[in-house]
Amino acid sequence: MQKKLYAVIGCPVSHSLSPVMQNAALRALGLSAEYIAVLVQRGELGAFVREAGKKLAGFNITVPHKNAILPFLDEISHDAALAGSVNTVTVTDGRLFGTSTDGYGLEAALRESFSYEIPGSSVTFIGCGGVVKALAFHFALHGIRKIRLLNRTPETAFALAESLCREFPALDAVAAPLADEKRIEAFLNDSRLAVQCTSLGLKKDDPSPIRPELLPRGIFFYDTIYKRTKLYDYAEKHGIPAASGLTMLLHQGAKSLSLWTGKEAPVEVMRKALFEAAEI
Ligand SMILES: NC(=O)c1ccc[n+]([C@@H]2O[C@H](COP(=O)([O-])OP(=O)(O)OC[C@H]3O[C@@H](n4cnc5c(N)ncnc54)[C@H](OP(=O)(O)O)[C@@H]3O)[C@@H](O)[C@H]2O)c1
Repeated sequence: MQKKLYAVIGCPVSHSLSPVMQNAALRALGLSAEYIAVLVQRGELGAFVREAGKKLAGFNITVPHKNAILPFLDEISHDAALAGSVNTVTVTDGRLFGTSTDGYGLEAALRESFSYEIPGSSVTFIGCGGVVKALAFHFALHGIRKIRLLNRTPETAFALAESLCREFPALDAVAAPLADEKRIEAFLNDSRLAVQCTSLGLKKDDPSPIRPELLPRGIFFYDTIYKRTKLYDYAEKHGIPAASGLTMLLHQGAKSLSLWTGKEAPVEVMRKALFEAAEI
């Protein structure tokens, strides 16, 4: 049988931990398959996707292509189309089906770390880039009651709050600038969960997107970045239940693998490979 090929595409992509995690899973499942990282520059996306339909069985998409890939696909799931964000493509007989497993990944990570359940709950997203669009629509589709959005560029957050309210009339979704400490305080005190989704923290000397002291004691804190950030350290030091992005990466990857193979993902094998690669 011919070896199946899977990939993650992005720019940059060499830092991605997905190949280590997915290859461990493919081996554990005894499949004749390989998962590779492919650097795809912005202008090369269309050409890549045309070839991918012939060569790959499926692929993940990371920054900066999650939105740009939509016009190149044959079919898109309802939630991914709403959010305008695809992180997983399945290739069947040359046809490309796109969906997003980011929301599932965070939901599973929150359940694991905090026993947090989305229905009827409340969340503040700190940052409002591509990933928050996917996460906010996933939370809305799964019955969240309140969404608070904070962003450096407030217009992006206002626009997302507006489209969430239009799509889900019963949802209470509001936004504010990241510079407005009074609103930040009010949002966080009104939320069961805070999710840090800015890219601040990727570099060691990055500042915190909000003053850490604004995190209230009764909140759960999840950082989508999988390094230790200043906010994560603060939360941990002050007894605020905190977790970081590796578990979201794990569960979104496990879901992608199941979609491609039709098999239950060996989550513990993937977790071990991922945590070892991240040196945790
Ligand atoms: N764990 C996982 O599985 C997983 C999955 C996906 C993403 N992520 C993480 O999520 C983060 C965001 O990803 P994305 O796809 O949403 O990226 P993106 O679309 O580039 O968005 C970046 C976000 O960071 C904000 N930001 C950047 N620099 C800032 C600064 N100096 N001060 C304040 N805010 C700043 C941006 O605000 P503006 O709008 O004002 O520019 C925007 O909200 C990344 O760090 C990534 O590592 C993790």
